Amino acid sequence: MERYAIKGGKVLEGEITIAGAKNAALGILAAAVMTDEECIIENVPYVSDTRTLLKAIEGIGAKVKYLDRHTVSICGKGIRGDRSLSVDDEYIRKIRASYYLIGALLGKYSYANVALPGGCDIGARPIDLHTKGFEKLGAKVDTVHGGKVVAEADQLVGAHIYLDTVSVGATINIMLAATLAEGKTTIENAAKEPHIVDVANFLNTMGANIKGAGTDVIRVRGVTKLHGAEYSIIPDQIEAGTFMAMAVATRGNILIQNVIPKHLEAISSKLIEMGATVIEYDDSVRVMADGKLKSTQIKTLPYPGFPTDMQAHMATVLALAEGTSIVTESIFENRFRYVQELVRMGAKIRVEGNVAIINGVQKFLGANLTAPDLRAGAALVIAALAAEGVSVIEDIEYIKRGYEDFDEKIRSLGGNMEILDTDKDIQKFKLRVG
Ligand code: UD1
Repeated sequence: MERYAIKGGKVLEGEITIAGAKNAALGILAAAVMTDEECIIENVPYVSDTRTLLKAIEGIGAKVKYLDRHTVSICGKGIRGDRSLSVDDEYIRKIRASYYLIGALLGKYSYANVALPGGCDIGARPIDLHTKGFEKLGAKVDTVHGGKVVAEADQLVGAHIYLDTVSVGATINIMLAATLAEGKTTIENAAKEPHIVDVANFLNTMGANIKGAGTDVIRVRGVTKLHGAEYSIIPDQIEAGTFMAMAVATRGNILIQNVIPKHLEAISSKLIEMGATVIEYDDSVRVMADGKLKSTQIKTLPYPGFPTDMQAHMATVLALAEGTSIVTESIFENRFRYVQELVRMGAKIRVEGNVAIINGVQKFLGANLTAPDLRAGAALVIAALAAEGVSVIEDIEYIKRGYEDFDEKIRSLGGNMEILDTDKDIQKFKLRVG
């Protein structure tokens, strides 16, 4: 089983380039099957989540071709849009965003049959808001035996949909289906994340008529057909945030290229409060820290609030800051599972309900760790890089779902990190790094 072996204590310095946004890519790749013409998508992150979704898309008959490592051509013409259409394989159940195929296929064929989504275990993660939205558009939705969602309609008809909870997934999924519905759909209390705007922009490039993405009211005027398009995905806000937190935790100096600084404001302002320096350029940010870090309070909120996907990384940095910090998780109920790992490294963190109370310590000590999910796994990598001694992190397949070439990028910044398979190799690594 592959594991990360990390010798901490190095100050990370240098430049790295951020990949395309995974969560935008997942919506955009699904949307691409909604036309029979070819779509060429650039800046697709080469991570296991996008490759898994592409395999599923290929599995239903679409033509998928990598033109280079980050450019994918998709042609949805070969999909048999009848009742034999079913998205189910051993992979698709592992990723959350398989649910975007429900909206995309329902919009295009008025029928979708998709295995229920998996994804990281960070809370209940229901899809009731998605299904309620489809029902409002006139679909009949069944969750059938074997964990599949079957949605069908004679003809989708635009509707007024109010989301009880702000949901990224439901907003994108309803937007996908509504694009090819008859008439006008309004999504109220919509999520405003940058990747929602990106999916809407891509759909509009394909001929959709979507207005208001990025605000809390999205208006979709249904069109009868979409056409092929070329599109480049926005940079990944969370990958960028991860390297920002890494720069601060290791008291380093990293120039993070290919970012949209505006998307990083919530993260930048917290890091500045903690005593770091963040310099914004047009499409890059430099993050530096030296000396002592200060405590602060963070509460996760839908965009433009502080992203839940950065909660674990920031708590890790705060665990090395002077004083008491409070981190409140208000989106998912099971997102503190990394805390017990940090505690084994010497962190002083107490979790009470959805609040983590962090008393900063001087240093972490390397330990054997297990990644509990994608983002928390990346936070443990940050902790290991900042720690004294060697850490070994298991279950790194979670991390590979969303971080492209994570170990290579970290090595290019001077980090001492390798992917190793056997106990013997880990033993050798420990002897080598001392
Ligand atoms: C997406 C992101 C994930 C991020 C999250 C919040 C993808 C593939 N994943 O996940 O990385 O952490 O947004 O920014 O883009 N909810 C319901 N019913 C539903 C749907 C959601 O109650 O039908 C609740 C959830 O339990 C959660 C909240 O709404 O408490 C927000 O979830 P949502 O924004 O939908 O997250 P995801 O789309 O799953």
